[in-house]
Amino acid sequence: MSSIDLFQNPLRRWGKHKDGKRRPTVLVKELRERDRRRMVKHFLGLEDSDRLLRFGTVLPDEQVANYVNRIDFSRDMVFGVYNRVFKLVAVGHLAFAPRDESKSAVTDKERVAEFGVSVSRSARGMGMGTKLFERAAIHCRNNDVDTLYMHCLSSNKTMMHIAKKAGMEIHRDYGEADAYLKLLPANPASMLQEALDEQFATLDYTLKANKRIAAKWFDRLLGRK
Ligand SMILES: CC(C)(COP(=O)(O)OP(=O)(O)OC[C@H]1O[C@@H](n2cnc3c(N)ncnc32)[C@H](O)[C@@H]1OP(=O)(O)O)[C@@H](O)C(=O)NCCC(=O)NCCS
Repeated sequence: MSSIDLFQNPLRRWGKHKDGKRRPTVLVKELRERDRRRMVKHFLGLEDSDRLLRFGTVLPDEQVANYVNRIDFSRDMVFGVYNRVFKLVAVGHLAFAPRDESKSAVTDKERVAEFGVSVSRSARGMGMGTKLFERAAIHCRNNDVDTLYMHCLSSNKTMMHIAKKAGMEIHRDYGEADAYLKLLPANPASMLQEALDEQFATLDYTLKANKRIAAKWFDRLLGRK
């Protein structure tokens, strides 16, 4: 048994997906300054084809790092999923911008939001992309934003599937697709849901972080490192 197995995370639950397969619960956590380094690592771990899908171009490493370093956490929201061994395997960036007057027919709110997401290859197909999207949508609702945009290549079948599943209106143009979702206003249930999601994710994050520290300590104690 490795030292890591000594600590079981009580928040790790398995549920049955509609395809009949069992999947672990996905806990989505707000990311902050302290997560920047891990975010860079996550993006640098994406293959070229995935960087193309995520950023619309195969962004070189240096620009990936610049992109992460420029994220303004006081304006935007970034969500992430940490795996069992405290590796950041999924990141969703919800960027807010003032309403574009040319699109004013779509919303009369002051701000709109745009969402971009990526999941490491090793963690795909477990519902993380979908959960990050849902979390972004509920955050918009709770912050008086009723329009959520997503820009991606129309050849991106997985993202198109997630967008359709969420009920997004999709407009395709020259190989690219702009999708947007109109959101309902906040209500007590949406507020409570977001607060609970974050509470559970914070607890999970703390457990995993402590487990990692303890595992390192054990390894050192046993002379493994
Ligand atoms: C798109 C991406 C975020 C999806 O992440 P994920 O965690 O694997 O997504 P999920 O597990 O939540 O959902 C995948 C869904 O797509 C479906 N899917 C997978 N491959 C598919 C395909 N080729 N065609 C149609 N649907 C597909 C799955 O069946 C699943 O649907 P279900 O939940 O209804 O069963 C991930 O593939 C990724 O990071 N891609 C590279 C970056 C990118 O494309 N970002 C989006 C642009 S902003």
